[in-house]
Amino acid sequence: MKAAVVSGYGGPEVIQFKEVEKPIPKANELLVEVKATTVTVADTRIRAFDLPSGTRFIGRFALGITKPRRKILGAEFAGMVSSVGTDVSKFKPGDRVVASSLPKFGGYAEYACIPERSMICKIPEGVDYKTAVTLPIGARTALYYLLKADIEPDKRILIYGASGSVGTFTVQLARRFGADITAVCSSANTKLVQSLGATKVLDYRSPNFERQLNCYDIIFVAVDKLPTQIAINHLADNGIYLNITDPFKKISMIRESIRTKKRFIMAENLKDTSQDLADLLDLVREKSLQPVIDRVYAFEELPEAHRYVDSGRKKGNVVISLG
Ligand SMILES: NC(=O)c1ccc[n+]([C@@H]2O[C@H](COP(=O)([O-])OP(=O)(O)OC[C@H]3O[C@@H](n4cnc5c(N)ncnc54)[C@H](OP(=O)(O)O)[C@@H]3O)[C@@H](O)[C@H]2O)c1
Repeated sequence: MKAAVVSGYGGPEVIQFKEVEKPIPKANELLVEVKATTVTVADTRIRAFDLPSGTRFIGRFALGITKPRRKILGAEFAGMVSSVGTDVSKFKPGDRVVASSLPKFGGYAEYACIPERSMICKIPEGVDYKTAVTLPIGARTALYYLLKADIEPDKRILIYGASGSVGTFTVQLARRFGADITAVCSSANTKLVQSLGATKVLDYRSPNFERQLNCYDIIFVAVDKLPTQIAINHLADNGIYLNITDPFKKISMIRESIRTKKRFIMAENLKDTSQDLADLLDLVREKSLQPVIDRVYAFEELPEAHRYVDSGRKKGNVVISLG
């Protein structure tokens, strides 16, 4: 089968297309013919070994000392079940499924194996592969952290980085929870973010940016570029700050959480609940959640798609179609 294989850490040119052996599912696994995958920040960060500071040393051991241990990236995929192992009971050949392939990756290939007991769901009728494939990482992350922040009607939430994958899902889901949303993005994305449900949209490039901020019950940092002190200054006394990228608290956060009732929740591995993914698929089916798809590339254009995501300018999701 054809697969996109990374030869080492580096730019998009390290992605090379090769013929590799088609995987054989173990007794507890499904073999899926991949129809769509994505380029997430998780894929580009691993390819480039571009990890948040403080995680690089441990990252070498986890991901591979000189080159990625996982040669075939692709953190999420959607496709049709081709065959199943003898112990698989919930899926059969022909089922349309979507899955998160973390932590093993493997979506950048014509076929991928995945255990039945992992983050995998059947895709409901009326939802296509390219739409479904955006949900396992971006949408699930948004939902997971909003629930951690005890999102409730009328809570004032600031969503920083509202135009990315996680951001566009967070705005839509926070709207469903009835929150009062202030979203932050560049002026190029204001209309998009407004259309998703933000009450107020601020441009982080505006010279008055900080002066336009109010006090928030939740500050959701989807793109890790909001200076900590600004977040601290605008977080309500019993407010919750969430940062989905950086796993480490800053000293100023620790100090603030001792002095006040403010809570600081940092990046962590999501708990695998396929029910969340199924619920999100249902929302998409009933058109209550509309994944933002910025660009769709053909499989052969994967290096180009990585180059685009590297630019840091993608809006919502970048999808790779395998036909
Ligand atoms: N913890 C988890 O489980 C988890 C899961 C998924 C993702 N993540 C992390 O979440 C982060 C966000 O990923 P993503 O895919 O949602 O988005 P992304 O691709 O990192 O962000 C793209 C967006 O960022 C905006 N942006 C760029 N510079 C900005 C700035 N200075 N201020 C505000 N916005 C800015 C861009 O808008 P403009 O062009 O308008 O500037 C663009 O729309 C990544 O670091 C990723 O690793 C964590």
